[in-house]
Amino acid sequence: MKMRPGIAGVGCAVPERVLTNADLEKLVETSDEWITARTGIRERRILRADEDPADLGIAAARQAIEHAGLFPADIDFLITATNVSEMLVPGSSPFICEGLKIKKEIPFFDLIAGCTGFVYALKIAADLVSSGSYGNVLVVGLEALSRFTDWQDRSTCVLFGDGAGAAVVRKISGDRGILASCLAADSSKWDLLRIDAGGVKTPASLQTVEQRQHYLKMAGSEVFKSAVQMMAETTEKALAQAQLSKYDIDWVVPHQANRRIITALAKRLDIPMEKVIVNIERYANTSTASIPLALREALDDGRLQPGEIVVLSAFGAGVTYGSIVLRW
Ligand code: UT7
Repeated sequence: MKMRPGIAGVGCAVPERVLTNADLEKLVETSDEWITARTGIRERRILRADEDPADLGIAAARQAIEHAGLFPADIDFLITATNVSEMLVPGSSPFICEGLKIKKEIPFFDLIAGCTGFVYALKIAADLVSSGSYGNVLVVGLEALSRFTDWQDRSTCVLFGDGAGAAVVRKISGDRGILASCLAADSSKWDLLRIDAGGVKTPASLQTVEQRQHYLKMAGSEVFKSAVQMMAETTEKALAQAQLSKYDIDWVVPHQANRRIITALAKRLDIPMEKVIVNIERYANTSTASIPLALREALDDGRLQPGEIVVLSAFGAGVTYGSIVLRW
């Protein structure tokens, strides 16, 4: 029987604390009406100051490993997709590995590809599995963007939430698994989404802190315009590569950045919204965690069934974008 790399288990975790649009009305000049109409977001989960983001990644990973019917000791490679890691050095992966108590000295690395990080990491994991070098690759999307959010900037602070998602990629049978993928990027748009200070170009200083340069900045409407076209383009290419058409798609699980972007994508792909998994209203944009969070929800409520054709599609800082077509 044909075996190909696929997602054998999915997990997710979000912080307990809920921040509603009404809460944000008390922080900045905004309204529940504006946020809901422009983004589809009603609330998001935000880490408390004393909570460690890595714990979310560990919880999501545990759930994904269990769902795959495996134990942490079975994992032989870890990729953590994140925009803002636990520490600049050594990133997030060692902390997840420590928390999972994986006794083996498995290789790991952090992957920075904006909100597309989870899709990029899945493709790399699938290639590692295909090559035969590794059997069970754990992919974690871990994001605590609240720690880099300017709570005085209404144009960004309403958009993001914290969370983590994970997937175990291994060879699976029954003609299931990852059928095709298309990853892409446009470096000329690097300045659309940025954290200016704290890296080596502009190291942290009193001045950078005073000028609020450690916070995320975004040219929202420019990102918006590119996002729909980019996700549609890579979805169409991946579908063609898999020799499938839009009529074969059972589910689209898009990166949850803005409900209007998701609706426009569905329209462009000519896919009814009933086939699109959306949970942005409760979690906002959790970046690399958004796709596994939505996937897990569709599994838990019974929408996603074995054998169905699923499209994962994302875009993000870099700018990066990409889509994966798989048979669940
Ligand atoms: O994962 C990738 C990450 N990024 C994204 O996905 C972001 C993609 N972009 C978006 O989702 C949308 O562009 C936003 C939701 C960020 C903004 O929506 P928009 O329809 O593009 O609004 P806009 O930026 O054109 O702003 C319209 C108005 C402005 O006022 P003026 O200049 O027209 O008077 C903003 O100042 O809305 C104002 N505004 C707000 N008003 C109330 C911006 N943020 C807010 C706010 N509350 N929170």
